[in-house]
Amino acid sequence: MGRCRSCGSKWILVTIFAVGLLMLKAVEASHHLFTAEKLLQEVPPSTISNRTAFHFQAFKNWINDPNGPMYYNGVYHLFYQFNPKQPIWGNIIWAHSVSKDLINWKPLKPAIYPTGPFDINGCWSGSATILPGNKPAILYTGIDSDNRQVQNIAFPKNLSDPYLQDWVKPDYNPVISPDHGINSSAFRDPTTAWPGSDGRWRLVVGSRRDSQGMAILYSSEDFRTWRMEHNPLHVINGTGMWECPDFFPVSSKPFEGVDNSVHSNGLKHVFKVSLDVDRYEYYTIGTYDYARESYVPDGLSSDNNTGLRFDYGNFYASKTFYDGAKRRRILLGWSNESDSNQDDWAKGWAGIHTIPRALWLSKNGRQVVQWPVHEVKKLRHKHVAVYGKKLSPGDIFEIQGIQASQADVEVTFDASSSLENAEQFDPSWTNPQKLCSEKGEGTKGGVSFGLYVLATGDKRERTSVFFRIFKAKKRHVVLFCHDPTRSSFNSRLYKPIYGGFVDVEIQNHGKISLRSLIDHSVVESFAAGGKTCITSRVYPSFASGSNARLFAFNNGDGEVEISQLKAWEMRKPYINGI
Ligand SMILES: *[C@@H]1O[C@H](CO)[C@@H](O)[C@H](O)[C@H]1NC(C)=O
Ligand SMILES: *[C@@H]1O[C@H](CO)[C@@H](O)[C@H](O)[C@H]1NC(C)=O
Ligand SMILES: *[C@@H]1O[C@H](CO)[C@@H](O)[C@H](O)[C@H]1NC(C)=O
Ligand SMILES: *[C@@H]1O[C@H](CO)[C@@H](O)[C@H](O)[C@H]1NC(C)=O
Ligand SMILES: *[C@@H]1O[C@H](CO)[C@@H](O)[C@H](O)[C@H]1NC(C)=O
Ligand SMILES: *[C@@H]1O[C@H](CO)[C@@H](O)[C@H](O)[C@H]1NC(C)=O
Repeated sequence: MGRCRSCGSKWILVTIFAVGLLMLKAVEASHHLFTAEKLLQEVPPSTISNRTAFHFQAFKNWINDPNGPMYYNGVYHLFYQFNPKQPIWGNIIWAHSVSKDLINWKPLKPAIYPTGPFDINGCWSGSATILPGNKPAILYTGIDSDNRQVQNIAFPKNLSDPYLQDWVKPDYNPVISPDHGINSSAFRDPTTAWPGSDGRWRLVVGSRRDSQGMAILYSSEDFRTWRMEHNPLHVINGTGMWECPDFFPVSSKPFEGVDNSVHSNGLKHVFKVSLDVDRYEYYTIGTYDYARESYVPDGLSSDNNTGLRFDYGNFYASKTFYDGAKRRRILLGWSNESDSNQDDWAKGWAGIHTIPRALWLSKNGRQVVQWPVHEVKKLRHKHVAVYGKKLSPGDIFEIQGIQASQADVEVTFDASSSLENAEQFDPSWTNPQKLCSEKGEGTKGGVSFGLYVLATGDKRERTSVFFRIFKAKKRHVVLFCHDPTRSSFNSRLYKPIYGGFVDVEIQNHGKISLRSLIDHSVVESFAAGGKTCITSRVYPSFASGSNARLFAFNNGDGEVEISQLKAWEMRKPYINGI
């Protein structure tokens, strides 16, 4: 993705400035060129608090989108949008880290930074593709000397270097320009390429025409000369600019994935976009028609900003990749800060990535399911367990014995004896986020239970992670919410309530599971085995470090039982120098 919407006016100024400098630039071009060594010097480490411990982040300054993730010759590569100079968006380059387990990350020198007229004003998001002969290629959006968005290619300089530290950009860049009337300010984030039925490579680039969002389709014989196809892969009116499109086949076997190149009858695809208009992502499940080169959603969910989301919280610009070593598809996303710019300057850093998640198609084919990669479990340390604990209406039960500011909690609630207390569901309640706000964590009655995480002993500070169950005509409706309204005494913070419905038949057995990864300033939750996920950024004033507590609560009218709860303290992995 590119700039934030709130940066609009700044961008115009930058544009005017850049245009004014155009002539100077030609003369001074060599002074604009960055070197990796110089960029590295800009970033001494920072140890400011509220840092996460096991979520991916840079040692300092601003990060946003994950870029070009790939598994290559035994090593996971993660590139990311990075400002080497400040904890706010700007000066964007591709930073680079490598890992053997997706948990510990070794920082390398920046991989892609402005070096030529085709990317002199920025190196924005893109993807990696492994070409035949086991040769990786990166396609990314460059901001060229006319401030146009163009698509460029880069290759590793030395395929024998196990970390692929140096990347070379051929002189024939850019490989795709905003021709054919494409708006050059709305043309970015190329996907991983896949071979079509005719053997030609395909990829899409996010764009818009007026308010129509679109994924423009390109094809190529040789990965160098790209041709725009007549029809976009997918288009939707009224959705605005499409950032970070992702398009991939999805397996219906739990924890498994399928490589982008696989063709087979009945194989489902996922199409995802990040909507610049509301800064949320949505996806559909559908079929890729190879002959017509089009994507046809199944129509089981809305194909607009009211549709399904990978994550109903603070999560954007996500990208998946196929992990050939473990035959799984992995999803990474960016979680923006929700404190103020002033806080970010004080902290010296902003932005994290969510825990890598395996992603597959749910049993009923209506949505995807996500679960933290199993490697996360090796960080689990000291743990506590609770079995068969009954919570009466109004009960709050403390789970003691671990440091709850850095924890992994798995719990199964049994609400079977309480389901008859469920409030009537009104079919006009189609917006789960709004419903979570209207029936927030403080609303007593009905069936409502969950966890208070990052809480103080007196619970005046707390982030509520909870379910609310309603009775509809034929079945019960399960709502899952994050309510950070009381997460901090700091009033400058943005504390949005998030929510999503959970597609389960709770009336059958009354049980529902929840997993929450709690990491100082982030709470990342997976309801019902990963059917509905929510990520929130929170900044407790007091409930930090060893002061953070963990509780289970029952706000409803009937009894709810904790069938089983396990909570682990998490170790700190090595991430980018810290
Ligand atoms: C390529 O990388 C390998 C392994 O690090 C190294 O031995 C070799 O010298 C490198 N080749 C060049 C041309 O830099
Ligand atoms: C081109 O895209 C930019 C950025 O989205 C937008 O501000 C501008 O209005 C668009 N121009 C046209 C002619 O649609
Ligand atoms: C989308 O909008 C265009 C005009 O911008 C219109 O011609 C077309 O019919 C619309 N398509 C749909 C499916 O609403
Ligand atoms: C989104 O799609 C749904 C059905 O697919 C439709 O009912 C709704 O009106 C659409 N919303 C918008 C804002 O276009
Ligand atoms: C990040 O979140 C803050 C609100 O906390 C918002 O002001 C800012 O625009 C967001 N940045 C982006 C790039 O979405
Ligand atoms: C975390 O951020 C909050 C909000 O800005 C602040 O009040 C708190 O002091 C910070 N925590 C620590 C341990 O610095």
